[in-house]
Amino acid sequence: MLPMTTHYTHRAAACMLAVALVLSISFLPRAVCDDRSSKTPLLIAHRGASGYAPEHTFASYELAIEQGADFIEQDLQLTKDGALICLHDPDLERTTNVSEIFPNRATVRDPEATGKPRRGWYTIDLTLDEIKKLDAGSWFNRANPFAAKQSYAGLRVPTLDETIKLVGDRAGLYIELKHFPFYKSLGFDVAQKLAAILNHHGFDKRPNRIFIQSFSKESLLRFRDLAPMYPRVQLLPMEDPGRAKDSATITAELATEISGYAQGAGPTKTMIKSAADVETLHGARLVIHPYTFRGSTTAVNRRPLEEKQPNGATLLQNIKDDIKRYIDFGIDGGFTDYPAIWKDVIRNPK
Ligand code: G3P
Ligand code: CA
Repeated sequence: MLPMTTHYTHRAAACMLAVALVLSISFLPRAVCDDRSSKTPLLIAHRGASGYAPEHTFASYELAIEQGADFIEQDLQLTKDGALICLHDPDLERTTNVSEIFPNRATVRDPEATGKPRRGWYTIDLTLDEIKKLDAGSWFNRANPFAAKQSYAGLRVPTLDETIKLVGDRAGLYIELKHFPFYKSLGFDVAQKLAAILNHHGFDKRPNRIFIQSFSKESLLRFRDLAPMYPRVQLLPMEDPGRAKDSATITAELATEISGYAQGAGPTKTMIKSAADVETLHGARLVIHPYTFRGSTTAVNRRPLEEKQPNGATLLQNIKDDIKRYIDFGIDGGFTDYPAIWKDVIRNPK
């Protein structure tokens, strides 16, 4: 348990007061109330425990639960036959052996609307049965030999439905609607599919187990129309046309705008420069869950946690210091590839 320091006592009291005020004037999902009044920042396992195991696999999700994650993140993509699968990229190539198994199935698409269509093996061009034939673990062993495990080879891409069944009541789900306009342009409503699956599993009766996140304001508005009971988090900067610049800086105007349709903000860490930025978002009654705590590594080119960094400290120590710094700013939770490190910081805050 985190010791009840003065800092956290004051923050909890302020949060409870803010929540009481909000409840008196507007609808606010229960999960957000629980979160804001909690003294312990939420541990969100980014793509599972993806620093230790291949992202978005059962191994990664199981490890996240074992390491004490409050929520496990899922990024959603869509298959040709309309199934929602848990995968970060719209293209299967980085994290599976798709180019070996289906060498002739590459297409040229532009899911991120960059204006530069790219050749790839997109999930939308393969059926779920075909995607289930792919190895989603061996890439991790090659990219991270210091963390490789034989058991990771041959892991499969999970569907959202399978993930919900696997996780059960052991953690919450923090689900990202990705590439909403792209799938819409192909005739699919990913928000509708997501709402249907969540409701089918009875989460509409316990929405505090769920957060819905997106870089796309359009997709969050659509999801609010379909299923208003689930808490929504606007990732920043927004990806909606014309919003890349103005939504990349924390301002009171931006916070007020987001609070009109969401309960939280998920800024990239570098947008939060001080406790004042957190206060600006809290001032609009938003919870703040920045991404991603994993040191200087990326999801692909990781380094061993024990390795010394240019500042003389280990990568592990740098990640710990980073987590501590942001918790001291007053964040309500954060996305991390290393749930065990986050947990350690919470247990030993000094
Ligand atoms: O969803 C929070 C964080 O995961 C956003 O970045 O690219 O890893 O989905 P990305
Ligand atoms: Ca994500």
